[in-house]
Amino acid sequence: MRIGVLTSGGDAPGMNAAIRAAVRQADALGHEAWGIRRGFQGVLEKDWAPMPSRACANILQRGGTVLHTARCPEFHEAARRAEAAVNLREAGIQALVVIGGDGSFRAAEALHREQGVPCAGIPGTIDNDLPGTDRTLGFDTALNTAVEAIDRIRDTASSHGRLFLVEVMGRSSGMLAVHTALACGAEAVLFPESPDGSYQALVARLNANWLRGKRSSIVVVAEGDGLGSAVAVGDRLRRDYGLDLRVVVLGHIQRGGSPSALDRIWGCRWGAEAVRLLDAGKGGFYLGEVAGALAVQPLARILDSPPAPPEDLSDLVDVLSR
Ligand code: F6P
Repeated sequence: MRIGVLTSGGDAPGMNAAIRAAVRQADALGHEAWGIRRGFQGVLEKDWAPMPSRACANILQRGGTVLHTARCPEFHEAARRAEAAVNLREAGIQALVVIGGDGSFRAAEALHREQGVPCAGIPGTIDNDLPGTDRTLGFDTALNTAVEAIDRIRDTASSHGRLFLVEVMGRSSGMLAVHTALACGAEAVLFPESPDGSYQALVARLNANWLRGKRSSIVVVAEGDGLGSAVAVGDRLRRDYGLDLRVVVLGHIQRGGSPSALDRIWGCRWGAEAVRLLDAGKGGFYLGEVAGALAVQPLARILDSPPAPPEDLSDLVDVLSR
């Protein structure tokens, strides 16, 4: 079987581990792996080439994706997906390993349902916002990157007795924000799914901390929080209370860097398992981790609502920041 491997959407540390595992497992089972560059855009443009095991040397520990990636809005059109299926058939590519997040899995789900292309999904996004899996590649690494950065900010915040608003990624998910906030002892966290994410609640919290004697605070703000960006919240606090605060946007620093051991290990497991299941004649699924064990979900599961950050974790941020 000729198996195409692609990475799509925002890159995430651990994607290279999954590429390497898929390619080498394919080789071990007597299949031929082809690398497709720039995700689904590469399928439309036939930007692909055979990818032998040796092409994966020395990539396990590297961030980003050696196959490059793209967001491909054209793939929202059924006609373009039909073209993609024709391209794949003509090139003899009989199955796809799709490494990406929500948008990539939705594209794979449609390609599988409409065109019968066997697709195997591997969760790759620093957002950790996919239904049916407790983990996605890149989340653990990005979390550690954010925590390390905020530990540094903490030093200067406490030295100056200042309030810092630190923005982390997550356009529609607070997973990274809540986990980061708990891991670095933030005084508050703002995130899109928050039940009490009001401006008044934030002000009351900062005020209570001030009365308890805290002179510096760190508020972690998810990029997609309902109150607006960290810059917008900071401007409002300055305007209303004249605070000498600082805003830091961590941005794409969170997406880069060498993957953590956990992201490498899951990249290896999922990459290999995706190919083993394709080899067994399965298609139309994605992999995950549920309660520590490797899980297999039907691709249609991606249409379920995304998971919200565990409420007990965001509650703990509040309790422990006294
Ligand atoms: O989906 C991953 C992610 O990093 C989000 O957290 C973020 O909102 C988005 O990608 C940024 O995308 P881009 O790199 O295209 O600006």
